[in-house]
Amino acid sequence: MSKLLFPQDFVWGTATASYQVEGAAREDGRGESIWDRFCTIPGNVANGDTGDVACDHYHRFREDISLMRQMGMKGYRFSIAWPRIYPDARGQVNEAGLEFYSRLVDELLKAGITPYVTLYHWDLPQAMQDIGGWANPQMPQYFLTYCHKVMERLGDRVRHWITLNEPFCAAFLGNYEGRQAPGIRDFSTALRVAYHLYVAHGLVVRYFRQSGMKGEIGIALNLMGRVPLSDEPEDAAAARRADGYINRWFLDPLIRGTYPQDMVDWYQSMGVVMPPFDPDEMALMAQPLDFMGLNYYNDSFVRHDSQVWPLGFSSATPRLMPVNDRGWPITEEGLYHMLLRMKQEYGIRKIVITENGTAINDVRSADNRVEDPQRVDYLRRHLHQLHRAIQAGVNVTGYMQWSFCDNFEWSFGYSSRFGLVYIDFATQERIVKQSGHWYAQAARDNGFDWIDMG
Ligand code: FCB
Repeated sequence: MSKLLFPQDFVWGTATASYQVEGAAREDGRGESIWDRFCTIPGNVANGDTGDVACDHYHRFREDISLMRQMGMKGYRFSIAWPRIYPDARGQVNEAGLEFYSRLVDELLKAGITPYVTLYHWDLPQAMQDIGGWANPQMPQYFLTYCHKVMERLGDRVRHWITLNEPFCAAFLGNYEGRQAPGIRDFSTALRVAYHLYVAHGLVVRYFRQSGMKGEIGIALNLMGRVPLSDEPEDAAAARRADGYINRWFLDPLIRGTYPQDMVDWYQSMGVVMPPFDPDEMALMAQPLDFMGLNYYNDSFVRHDSQVWPLGFSSATPRLMPVNDRGWPITEEGLYHMLLRMKQEYGIRKIVITENGTAINDVRSADNRVEDPQRVDYLRRHLHQLHRAIQAGVNVTGYMQWSFCDNFEWSFGYSSRFGLVYIDFATQERIVKQSGHWYAQAARDNGFDWIDMG
């Protein structure tokens, strides 16, 4: 047995996002978001769930932060709801929205917890969608105006900023697959959205640098290894394409200022209309970042599939592979390989794990306990691989577990639980799960015991 110790000052934390936890959807002047609208359309979200109440974090944030403190957490990643700051199309700032986040930041600092603020975690004001959403080339400018306001208000206390959460999902799940808000199904629109998201990101990074604000700025990307399902060359090519679709399309412009040429060629050969690739905008996207956020859940398995336009691949999980209750394969070594790749292939010098976690159908026992040994196992395995990557020289400064508490899991509604803290959605009662206790201990000890089974 060995003790895995993490670097001194390693930030043990948890993550959430505004729409998933806050509730109070119509309070204190908050405007409608694309998720409020998306949830009203039957069939979009399991059981017709909405984020109207969620975990009521808007009213219970003090209680939640006190729980985080008791759990020994050192960091908390949360997001700002844009429609709380700019509720409608009139461009008037809603003071009450800024005030809420200011109180939240103060409460965290009082508890000795470092805030990591995400500026966009998918809840675009509906008023912006009504003028075309992220497909509209003016959107980056609107985003800058909003971020400017938030940074002006919180920048004296917040030192860690994340511009965008998972631009892949915002672009492709929202505008190609239609599984998330705004529910559009058009590949060229999704490419345009991805492009404008990056222009927006670039504008905010530039503003942050020019303003001389203290602290660090980064972005959170969801990256995953794509593994061919067979030894057939066409499956290997499909896996490379899948890697281009989800990983390289997002890493390359940020780090290299270019889109991957093989993917540009492939999409063009499929008749997809491409975004402008303006050289000035490409340069804007590629400004140096202080850190890269990695959201890692699993790798995925890919095979050639000519039925799927324009990607030409589909995913399937091999039989007998261990999976979580959402059917996501458990592939902890993928985290190690992705971290090494980020350093070696892209030269990324500082990484924060901005999300990592698993969905389990947790149940509360009669004596009010929630035993989730599968989540403890998932955490141990992933933190072990993270430790391995750090030993191999990758600079990872923190780990934000997804999620602090069970919450509104997008199109799965409340049916998919990711929390370290169980929420009884009928009563809003919080119960720290077995995994929450385990994680709290690991945070206190700055590590945990590991038995290598070979
Ligand atoms: C990520 C999202 C996050 C959460 C987890 C499970 O894609 O960023 O909001 O839903 O998945």
